[in-house]
Amino acid sequence: MKYKIGLLKGDGIGPEIVDSAVRVLEEIGKKYGHVFEFTPYAIGGYAIDNYGEPLPKETVEGCLASDSVLLGAVGGPKWDNLSGNCRPEKALLGIREKMGLFTNLRPAKLYPALKSDSPLREDIVEKGFDIMIVRELTGGIYFGERGTREGKYGYEAYDTEAYSLMEIERIAKVAFETAKVRRGKLTSIDKANVLETSRLWRKTVHEMAKDYPEVECSDMLVDNAAMQLVRNPSQFDVIVTSNMFGDILSDEASQITGSIGMLPSASLGETKRGLYEPIHGSAPDIAGKNIANPIATILSAAMMLLYSFSLKEESDCIVNAVDKVLYAGWRTADIAHGENPLSTDEMTDKIIEEIQKI
Ligand code: IPM
Ligand code: MG
Repeated sequence: MKYKIGLLKGDGIGPEIVDSAVRVLEEIGKKYGHVFEFTPYAIGGYAIDNYGEPLPKETVEGCLASDSVLLGAVGGPKWDNLSGNCRPEKALLGIREKMGLFTNLRPAKLYPALKSDSPLREDIVEKGFDIMIVRELTGGIYFGERGTREGKYGYEAYDTEAYSLMEIERIAKVAFETAKVRRGKLTSIDKANVLETSRLWRKTVHEMAKDYPEVECSDMLVDNAAMQLVRNPSQFDVIVTSNMFGDILSDEASQITGSIGMLPSASLGETKRGLYEPIHGSAPDIAGKNIANPIATILSAAMMLLYSFSLKEESDCIVNAVDKVLYAGWRTADIAHGENPLSTDEMTDKIIEEIQKI
């Protein structure tokens, strides 16, 4: 089979880690007889510098014409002083919206080989955890009405949150279906003691739970959830939540794994075309040094094989190769504790060697 993959390398370490994932995909293509055709498109700060805007029209068209899209990272101090609409981050929101990617899957699992990297206490880490955060991605306060005006105390700024029944139903459906094929547990996180949107969210999830008797579904308030994630993360299987709560909780969840350089993500819509990216950012301080950890991006490519192309064996092959490399003790600088770290290219070579062996 032939697959067209759009590449959004972006800023900072983006280009290096995307190149690593491309090399891994090419190896998978060779091994299993697929052709992956890669086309780069400009996004973020790179696009601002070269085309005068963070998300050029050609990029959107290119992504929509691809079978799937792999993204590195966007943003950096160079563009931090630009105003809201011209910032690199605006491109991320734009591409999510234009591609209709309302689902964001963010797995946060503790790698047994990296247990000691978690900042959590040993007795908590001992129990392990493997959480799938299902974050709503094209609605809520991120996309609500906003502006500035004269208010009760003079000049003010405002953002608003709205969620339609349809938006809640479609993300909850993804979450229930995800829980069904995992450990059958779903926690819906909201702020229903304060927010009207949360009350509709909760009511809708309860209604839908009736159609999923095999899923054990419960609610949790977001402040409590933030606490429970560090107190007892093993209680969670699938979490479903709104755009902003998901943004915050997924950073917290990634941090407790101790290895944010390892975590992939997938953004999906109604079609098979998705946007796959590492959870970590553009890390401008280490850009261009060939020391970044490419694993999160390589695992994002594995998620693409699974979710966009239904190539389970090929996807598992990458995941297993990464596991083997970690068990063998190979580490990039972020997880090496100063002991002979591998470069980005060397880590990629190790993973490719394992793929060849499997
Ligand atoms: C993320 C990021 C983005 C978000 C920013 C960069 C707009 O934090 O993907 O989690 O808030 O969604
Ligand atoms: Mg975030």
